[in-house]
Amino acid sequence: MRRLSLPKFARYQLLVHLAALIPLAWLIFDAARGNLGANPIQAVEQRTGKYALILMAASLACTPLNTVTGWRSVLRWRRPLGLYAFVYAALHFLTFLGLDYGFDVGLIWLDVAGKRFILVGAAALAILVALAFTSTGAAMKRMGRRWKQLHRWVYAAGGLVIIHYAWAVKADIRGPLAWGALIAALLALRLPPVRRWFARQRVRRRLQGR
Ligand code: HEM
Repeated sequence: MRRLSLPKFARYQLLVHLAALIPLAWLIFDAARGNLGANPIQAVEQRTGKYALILMAASLACTPLNTVTGWRSVLRWRRPLGLYAFVYAALHFLTFLGLDYGFDVGLIWLDVAGKRFILVGAAALAILVALAFTSTGAAMKRMGRRWKQLHRWVYAAGGLVIIHYAWAVKADIRGPLAWGALIAALLALRLPPVRRWFARQRVRRRLQGR
């Protein structure tokens, strides 16, 4: 019998898709079993929001990981991870819109006016939408240099999500602070002098045969 074997690259890709989809399957499983606690809508909102943030940070970590280790294949994960972050953010928003407010735009309008954390979340989501819709190779070609400029906005989205998270949880801001520190560290690792320093270290290690 022939063994099914995937090339190494495809195996990693599969792993990325599985890692991104398992939280969704887990959420659906918990919902079907009535395992979402006393306030299931809030639980879905919190879990989809958290998964969106985790996947966004994972996508942002690809370039720094390449900077530090020189591992090039990791760069291929950036796009799928970013798109999954968008998918969870869209589910998060739809939960708010549909389950929380029954798509009652008037009611949302009345309520949102007093909730600054929703406005900040909406700004982050708007950036994620723009990035997701321009994530194709064709958009990259069409936009040329502007593509890179637009996709740098992912860090602004990261900052807005941290503010949104901190304002949503109100009292205990340890979680948002930890995530904020992680996103700031990932941004610092992208600064040209930092990248150059790591590149020099890699060359030095290679020359020393390590
Ligand atoms: C229009 C856009 C958005 C709306 C209406 C919205 C709505 C909400 C609401 C109502 C909560 C509070 C849930 C609760 O504890 O009662 C929340 C929390 C949260 N949202 Fe959003 N959000 C939006 C955008 C985003 C985006 C784009 C992200 C991430 C990429 C995100 C990530 C989070 C996180 C991490 C939390 C905290 C979850 C926790 O308490 O553990 N949100 N959001």
